[in-house]
Order: sequence, then C-alpha cells, then structure tokens
Amino acid sequence: MNKPAMENMKPHHLCFLLLVINSSLQAICGQVFKQQTRDTEYVVAGESITFLCSVPNINRYILRWLFKPNASKYRMDAGWIFPGGYVSTFGQFDLPPGRTQLTNGMFKITQLTVQDEGHYWCETSSVETPTTFGDKTPVHIWVTPQEPQIVPIGNGTVLEHTKTTVARCSSRAGKPEAKLTWMNGSEPLVTSAQPLVSKNSFSDYLWDIELDLILEDPTRFDHKRPFQCLIEHPAYKGEIKKLNHSVNVLYHPVNIRIWANTTSLYVYCEADGYPAPSYTWILPGDIDSEGPELLMSDLYDLPGTQWFECTADNGIPDHAVARILVDDLRWPN
Ligand SMILES: *[C@@H]1O[C@H](CO)[C@@H](O)[C@H](O)[C@H]1NC(C)=O
Ligand SMILES: *[C@@H]1O[C@H](CO)[C@@H](O)[C@H](O)[C@H]1NC(C)=O
Ligand SMILES: *[C@@H]1O[C@H](CO)[C@@H](O)[C@H](O)[C@H]1NC(C)=O
Ligand SMILES: *[C@@H]1O[C@H](CO)[C@@H](O)[C@H](O)[C@H]1NC(C)=O
Ligand SMILES: *[C@@H]1O[C@H](CO)[C@@H](O)[C@H](O)[C@H]1NC(C)=O
Repeated sequence: MNKPAMENMKPHHLCFLLLVINSSLQAICGQVFKQQTRDTEYVVAGESITFLCSVPNINRYILRWLFKPNASKYRMDAGWIFPGGYVSTFGQFDLPPGRTQLTNGMFKITQLTVQDEGHYWCETSSVETPTTFGDKTPVHIWVTPQEPQIVPIGNGTVLEHTKTTVARCSSRAGKPEAKLTWMNGSEPLVTSAQPLVSKNSFSDYLWDIELDLILEDPTRFDHKRPFQCLIEHPAYKGEIKKLNHSVNVLYHPVNIRIWANTTSLYVYCEADGYPAPSYTWILPGDIDSEGPELLMSDLYDLPGTQWFECTADNGIPDHAVARILVDDLRWPN
C-alpha cells in the first residue's frame, strides 16, 4: 500500500490562545483537542506506507512524526525534520538504517513489520505558532503465511464405506490465521472436521491453522478424485491458493460387461474396481479360461444358445459375474 494516508492537518484553534512553545503545554493541547482518526490502513508486512502532512513553510517549522504502538499507552518519536531539511529518525524506524524516509511533508516507512502496527500522526511547531496535530492514522499489519501444504495421513488407500482421515491441510505463521476450506469439485466438502487454530511456536502474534480431510463415507466415486484445499488470506489480496489431494478407494468390481470385436474376433470382459480385477471365463462347451480378452476364432461356429460367463474379482467382496448368449455377443442389437 503506498497511498498517502494524511493530507491535511486541522489547526487546533484553542491552542493559539495559549501561545505555547513549552512542551508540557503542547501535551495538554494534545489531550484537550480531539484528534480525528482516519480509516485503518491495512498493509502486508514487508511492504511500505507513505503518510503526508501539509506544512505551510517547511523552512520555518519543526515537523515531528509520532507513533503509538497498538499495544502501548505511550507515543514515541518516529522522525523529525528541522528547518533547513535536517532529518532524524528514531529507534525501530532507523532499523535497518534508511528504512524510513522523510522529505518535506512526506513520511515513508518501508519493510513494515508487526512492530510498526499502531497509530501515526504528525505535529508541526515553530517559534511563532503553536503546535498543530495531523489526523491519526491506524495502521494494521497483515503477515503473509508460509506456503500452505498438505500432509497425507495413512497409506493413501482407503476402504469403501469406511470413515477415514486422509490428509491435513495447513497454513502457518500468518497474521491473522488463514481460512481453509476443503472442496469436492465446486462444493465445500460435507465433513465433521473442524479447523484447529493455534499460536505459532516461534511468534506471539502469528497463527497456525490446520484442517483435516475426512472422508465420512468414501465410495468408488471418490477414487482418485481431486479434493482441493482452498487457502484464503488477506495478505494474498484476493488470490485463493489451491492444493489438490486424492486417494485410492478400494472397491469391489462393478459395471461388468462382455463384448466382442466381430472384426478381430476378440471377446472382452471389463469391470471397474480398485485394485484392477482379474477375470475368469466359462466359455461355450464349459471350457475355462483367464484374462480380460480371448481370441475366439470360431465365434461364428459356436452354438448361438450357449453362454459366455465372466467373473471379475479383485479380492474385495463381492466379485461380479456377467453372462451373455453367444447370439447376443455376435449380434449386439
Ligand atoms: C490493535 O489491537 C486490537 C486487538 O488486538 C486489534 O483488534 C486492532 O486491529 C489493532 N489495531 C491496529 C491498528 O492494528
Ligand atoms: C492401507 O491402509 C488400509 C486401511 O488402513 C489397509 O486396509 C490397506 O491394506 C493398506 N494398504 C497398504 C498397501 O498398505
Ligand atoms: C464428491 O462429489 C461427488 C460428485 O457429486 C460425489 O459422488 C461424491 O460422493 C462426493 N464425495 C464426498 C467425499 O463427498
Ligand atoms: C486440481 O484439481 C482440479 C479439479 O478439481 C483440476 O482442475 C486441477 O487441474 C488440479 N490441479 C493440479 C495441480 O493437479
Ligand atoms: C476391432 O478390431 C479391429 C481389427 O483389429 C480394429 O481395427 C478395431 O479398432 C477394433 N474395434 C474396436 C471397437 O476395438
């Protein structure tokens, strides 16, 4: 964020009556005259902000920039600019040196950190005029979390109809914590999982969040389906990060079908299932065979009223069986 945060100062007329240069009376003015507070500026840590203060004649005034940390009652000097343009910055605002720049009525802070969170304003004074105060600008700092990640839980394979926690999506060290959502396609996943928010172990003001992917009743429709973890954070400025995770679902053979290629004379048996099923056949004439495909060079010589029977099995009960009449195989319609 780089837009000027303060444009005007309102003179505090009662102060004129006091005719002050004395610092204790300046403090009284500061309390007596209500300063306006502007809208909060939200800045991502590492970025910069610029404040403006209008000064009638920079060569005759002392311009002070003040800062009150959010967590503190006390204000502190951030920077001074004296008549003639001599500049001084203080404490955190000079760490690393050159981090802040003061020129005329402008105060720019770069490489913002959480320690810079609080209220900023300017004060001008000169020998002839009493102190005037600029509006207060609250500055709120967002911290970009570390790159989100998904950690698989278990061996990546789940049994159909068995509630299983399969992965954990996490976003660490953000301010505030990120928002996590597991999606099934375009719909949020219906799940009993609750996000877990905790303080980051390395910092008092950063937050971790994690959310498990729990499949309450996995079915074959969830086999290799990409579930997405959406990660939202104000520091991403509207971008939504997405991570995919999928698992294998063990399921018994379904959708078994027998068909023939009447040109090549191959007969096929196919079924869906995970792991891939193996196939056994009972052929016309009660011959046994194995494998998903058979070359039946005598397809057109077989008795039309006999059966092809195929069994698909992948070790997960139940197996699947299909039967078809030789005639129906030869002339499917
Ligand atoms: C100051 O702290 C409060 C409480 O932690 C917070 O709600 C508020 O946003 C903070 N203000 C700024 C300017 O960061
Ligand atoms: C993976 O875990 C599931 C359920 O916990 C188990 O049934 C299966 O045998 C395991 N598979 C492998 C390859 O270890
Ligand atoms: C995901 O969506 C698909 C399609 O709507 C559905 O068949 C499946 O059961 C869903 N899976 C979960 C875990 O909700
Ligand atoms: C994640 O899954 C979505 C579908 O839900 C797909 O469009 C996207 O390409 C996948 N991304 C990656 C990196 O695999
Ligand atoms: C049937 O077999 C022929 C000859 O091998 C091949 O060209 C054709 O693509 C096959 N048809 C199907 C539907 O697989």
